[in-house]
Amino acid sequence: MSTELTPILSKFWDHPQSWTLETYEANDGYKALRKALDQPAADLVDMAKGSGLRGRGGAGFPTGLKWGFLPPPDGGPRYLVINADESEPGTCKDVPLMMAAPHFLIEGMIITSYAIGCEHAFIYVRGEVVHVYRRLMKAVEEAYAAGYLGKDIMGTGLNLDITVHSGAGAYICGEETALLDSLEGRRGQPRLKPPFPAVAGLYARPTVVNNVESIASVPPIVLNGKDWFTGMGTEKSQGFGFFSLSGHVTRPGQYEAPLGITLRELLDMAGGIREGHQLKFWTPGGSSTPIFTDEHLDVPLDFDSVAAAGSMLGTRALQIFDETTSVVRAVSRWTDFYAHESCGKCTPAAKAPSG
Ligand SMILES: Cc1cc2nc3c(=O)[nH]c(=O)nc-3n(C[C@H](O)[C@H](O)[C@H](O)COP(=O)(O)O)c2cc1C
Repeated sequence: MSTELTPILSKFWDHPQSWTLETYEANDGYKALRKALDQPAADLVDMAKGSGLRGRGGAGFPTGLKWGFLPPPDGGPRYLVINADESEPGTCKDVPLMMAAPHFLIEGMIITSYAIGCEHAFIYVRGEVVHVYRRLMKAVEEAYAAGYLGKDIMGTGLNLDITVHSGAGAYICGEETALLDSLEGRRGQPRLKPPFPAVAGLYARPTVVNNVESIASVPPIVLNGKDWFTGMGTEKSQGFGFFSLSGHVTRPGQYEAPLGITLRELLDMAGGIREGHQLKFWTPGGSSTPIFTDEHLDVPLDFDSVAAAGSMLGTRALQIFDETTSVVRAVSRWTDFYAHESCGKCTPAAKAPSG
């Protein structure tokens, strides 16, 4: 556990032109790519496994293991798809990351594509965030112009194209198989599994689907080494991540910290609950995660500790509510959201809206 912040992906967000290639390169940008291309692709998969990086999109599945699930190359295409749908109420980390420093994601995608043998990668971005779509398009353009994308990247013989695809604004399209259907031009509906995307994903080809923050974390890991990453966090939840504090807190925002930090420590840094009020309840990982109260202020915010305390770390979307909020009203509002956005396939979300 630690009470220190670890600004890594957010290190230069206060730079007036933080999103440009120039700023990124001035902050070690694309150095990890050079290092990655100097090693065999299989070593990068091993590095991801050894780093203990777990998916930052909610479920916490080990990232390296997921890459390793792809079947051996058969000469046909293999895809990397970035889940940038970010629609869970309270979750608000991928959008600021893509706005402030999109090249972390792009460099991470190039390294990951090399690791898994992919020559065409996609970013599926939530439909409502047109400003993010534009920023990503510009960053991709800059990466092509600098020779980091396209044919024969940096003279290595590696080819990669990135397509930025805007969804139509549907929560269900954040579920990875619904996302793949939507990307293929169909209505976004979850697929039955198996087959899993690793075997038959986009266009029925082997596909890795990863969250924005997961892949943006790859360049710092490659650059600094897996031991640097495992030196942060807890035994089974290694590294750092964004903790997004919102609601009745004095200084809401993105707090980038090692996994295992507690809400008490984060609230200390965020100036506490707004003046004159007390904490009533909070979500550890977005509105679909069971709520906590002040009894849980010292629960380490890592995957296992939050699960043992009866909730889920999810996307570390810490929505803070004081005594002025009715729990019933908040939960009823969320339930309406899930009923409205439901694909109708699982009972809990398909419940009728409350009145
Ligand atoms: C209803 C639903 C919505 C989801 N929405 C998102 C989302 O917006 N972004 C995301 O990264 N993962 C979302 N997920 C999780 C994805 O299905 C998938 O596990 C994730 O993209 C894998 O990436 P990761 O291993 O890097 O976390 C959602 C899952 C469900 C069931």
